[in-house]
Amino acid sequence: MKQNLILGIETSCDDTSIAVVDERGHVLSCKTASQVEVHVGYGGIYPEFASRAHVEAIVPTLRAVMSEANVTADELTAIGVTRGPGLIGSLLVGIHTAAGLGAGWGLPVFGVNHLRGHLRSAALQGATVTYPAIVLLASGGHTLIAYMKDARSMELVGTTRDDSVGEAYDKVARMLGLGFPGGPVIDRIAKSGEANIKFPRPMLGKGFEFSFSGLKSSVRRYMEQNPEPIIADVAASFVASCMDVLTAKCKAAIEQFHPASLIVVGGVSASPQLRARMEALCDETGTALALPPPQWSTDNGAMIAMATWDYINIDAPKLMEVDPNLSIGKL
Ligand code: KG4
Ligand code: ZN
Repeated sequence: MKQNLILGIETSCDDTSIAVVDERGHVLSCKTASQVEVHVGYGGIYPEFASRAHVEAIVPTLRAVMSEANVTADELTAIGVTRGPGLIGSLLVGIHTAAGLGAGWGLPVFGVNHLRGHLRSAALQGATVTYPAIVLLASGGHTLIAYMKDARSMELVGTTRDDSVGEAYDKVARMLGLGFPGGPVIDRIAKSGEANIKFPRPMLGKGFEFSFSGLKSSVRRYMEQNPEPIIADVAASFVASCMDVLTAKCKAAIEQFHPASLIVVGGVSASPQLRARMEALCDETGTALALPPPQWSTDNGAMIAMATWDYINIDAPKLMEVDPNLSIGKL
């Protein structure tokens, strides 16, 4: 019998993540097969290996989730699967698996925009998010600020001209010989360093656009000019620059749009430094902070399942075309 449960499947990049989530955002089970071991030697994601690893992981992950959630296919309402943006080969594994499951189980399948999944991750586990809201999405693929009048509407306020902040973390980690993914390792090393190197604060005071490519080049120049750098200080100084920029742009957006809350999502929002800065900013401006726990910051199937409820509620078309460049305004 139907139980108001969605199966969410996320394979846009390097994590195979599947979850079962109910209509209030309660996560019955979410399991993620990480590919860090596959890509660690390359200092970044190797797309061909990513798709192959998804093929290997997707069925065992699905079985583990259905078993932990203790649900059968006839109890599910629908399946939601990421259709973009992301790596084409990785997306295709998820989409075809979902299409096969939908046909076999007689369930509707919704192709979901990964970015809408991140936006809705703030409402997982029954968290209440008040609107209107300003959202900062800071991930490996995107850095943007958007205005959300309500849970389903979205207006882009500013985005990055070049690299995303997560990409900058990953590239700087590679330069510093810290490995992949860059975010967690830079965070860890930065804790023992001092932010005593003056890296630029790109686009500070210039509207809502971001640019992280120049900051990354400054770190590279510093490393070339200083043969014996203190890596912890370089990491701490790089993080300080990123934090100053992200915080200043969010502050300007709060001052301009007067939102009820600030939603902070995407892989970089797992950073303890960013979390602390956003808490301080919301205290200072009297804004509610919607910041999901770190496990919902990075890519996961639960956020895709959560976003699928919106697609069902507006009776959205069941789009199943993979779109590697899907923009945030599209379904
Ligand atoms: O949202 P996400 O999992 O995937 C994309 O949609 O891109 O974000 C991945 C990005 C990577 O660049 C990674 O280095 C960064 O999030 N990241 C972090 C942390 N954990 C992951 N950045 C800073 N601090 C972290 N703890
Ligand atoms: Zn993501």
